[in-house]
Amino acid sequence: MARFIDELKRTHTCGELREDDIGKEVILFGWVHGRRNLGGVVFIDLRDREGLTQLVFDPTDFEAPLEIANEVRGEWVIGVRGKVRDRGAKSDGTSLRNDTMPTGAIEVIVEEAHVFNSAKTPPFPIEDELDTYEDKRLEYRYLDLRRPKLQKNLITRSKLNLAARTYLAGKGFLEVETPYLVKYTPGGARNFLVPSRLYPSNFYALAESPQLYKQLLMVAGYDKYFQIVRCFRDEDLRIDRQPEFTQIDIEMSFINQDDLFTMLEGLVFKLFKDGLGVDLHERYPDGKFPRLPFDESMRRFGNDKPDMRFALEHVDLTELVIEHKGGGVPLLASIAEKFENGTYRTELPDEIVKAMRIPAEHKLSRKQLDELEKACKQMGSAGLARAKVNEGGAWTQSAFAKSITDDMRNAINAACGAEEGDLLLFQLGDVDRVHTVMANLRVRLAKQFGLIPSVGTEDGDWNLLWVVDPPLFEKHENGWAAAHHVFTRPHDGDVEKLGTDPGMVKCYRYDLVLNGFEIAGGSIRLHDPEVQKKVFEVIGLSEEEGRDKFGFLLDALQHGAPPHGGIAFGMDRVAMLACGTESIRDVIAFPKTQRSNDLMTGAPGLVDEEQLTDLNIAIADASKTKVRGGA
Ligand code: AMO
Repeated sequence: MARFIDELKRTHTCGELREDDIGKEVILFGWVHGRRNLGGVVFIDLRDREGLTQLVFDPTDFEAPLEIANEVRGEWVIGVRGKVRDRGAKSDGTSLRNDTMPTGAIEVIVEEAHVFNSAKTPPFPIEDELDTYEDKRLEYRYLDLRRPKLQKNLITRSKLNLAARTYLAGKGFLEVETPYLVKYTPGGARNFLVPSRLYPSNFYALAESPQLYKQLLMVAGYDKYFQIVRCFRDEDLRIDRQPEFTQIDIEMSFINQDDLFTMLEGLVFKLFKDGLGVDLHERYPDGKFPRLPFDESMRRFGNDKPDMRFALEHVDLTELVIEHKGGGVPLLASIAEKFENGTYRTELPDEIVKAMRIPAEHKLSRKQLDELEKACKQMGSAGLARAKVNEGGAWTQSAFAKSITDDMRNAINAACGAEEGDLLLFQLGDVDRVHTVMANLRVRLAKQFGLIPSVGTEDGDWNLLWVVDPPLFEKHENGWAAAHHVFTRPHDGDVEKLGTDPGMVKCYRYDLVLNGFEIAGGSIRLHDPEVQKKVFEVIGLSEEEGRDKFGFLLDALQHGAPPHGGIAFGMDRVAMLACGTESIRDVIAFPKTQRSNDLMTGAPGLVDEEQLTDLNIAIADASKTKVRGGA
């Protein structure tokens, strides 16, 4: 029988021992983090996921197992038995304690040691400050995961999961699992498909969310449901997106939007308290997060997930430009003319003009402005119109300066609150593009000016916000489409407008935003078949097509559906923000790259001809075959 593990059981983790433990006999297991030989005395830092402990192999104190101490190398796995002692002091009296380490007061003087396993030299050091390429780290993810920073992230994530379960179970929610292999339904995100062997030529889709199932659970009377669930979406990846990601998915019956918000606010408070040790009451004493109507969010910030930690708000100048008929500036006049032709509606404009005031204290060099303009062009804009405000409100450094009327210039200065030394930046034209470009500019400049950290929330400024009351439909080339999901309930007062003015119908859809990231989204569902029919009419979906697409849900809603609504938290995004990391990959144990592959296992991979034959699948064009790592 092996002595270590079988007889000698671990007494402490490597992050646990303190001054109070001095004199105790302890048994530790872990990885050799570092090793120093100082004149025959060997010091080893032993590491596990909880921290580091200094081991001393000193032949003058004990019959120390020096041959083991001399043999081991970085990342070998060992066990030791020894005594905890004070790190002591040098002969001149200076303490040898290391205050930067939680275990820095003590060391363990080793009496017995055992090597469980040797290790190859790792391809990169197991340290937090690392300049190794991420691809290399992902290829050896099991080594990367040994780094304290990633371990801390995954520990925080585990705490967040536990906090969510504890809170929701305490509020009477049931955790119910729903299928991953589901029927493909068009619309929404692009699905991953899984071929069926038993039904050749048929495919399952991997569920992009449990949306339909959780509504069916409400119809089935489960009342309060939650699930910490994996979702699959074959989307283009971004810094905050993964093809498989985790939601805390929630649905409740017999509630309205306020009830749901109250429940969710409680959950977020709990997540912060248990996961991060942060009491959000200091910022939100009444336990509520502010609410911002969608239209206002678009107007002031250009998107529906504004970062409210800083100002740099947008000013919508469209009405003013129309009033002044373009104020002598041809580009602006062409927008004003569209209004005269009757194609412009102030509520649902096709084109707009927006400005952002950069206060004089933030300096932008010519080069920086050129870079900003380049970035605008990359986002599809024609450029970046600007004006420097001088004494008396005069403009310089502006293509508009020569032709603009005094009236319009004064009106714009007043609308923007512009003062001498300020810079005004403008975007005009297609409404979606103007909003997007201006929203990106706002965040980019805030980082450039140091108004927010370039990554994360180092200053503990947790800014939460509900964005509410968005429109139910969005305009498409051939009419209207559901802006979110077709089972979103319109505001009761707007139901009449379904037939007359669909663009003005607002709905009970909401997003929760944290520091400019959408961390959760959901809606109160449409459970009334009559209103449902009208919504289908607006988007040009016949009853038959609706039945084809959502058959089982439509049927279910006619079998006694309670009023219900729900939400889903993007757990990876919450963890990413909570851990202050740069990328969603830093809070996922085994993430995919930006190009959707797994560099460690080699997924996705080619499969045998035989497997394809079993699935009745033939490769249509072998020349398109891409091998992992190929461009
Ligand atoms: P939605 O599509 O808004 O809603 O998703 C909810 C939350 O999930 C996160 N999220 C993602 N996180 C990482 N990678 C992705 N690819 C990704 N896509 C979404 C976001 C988002 O806020 N069924 C509805 C919820 C409901 O209505 O109840 C849904 O899935 O943080």
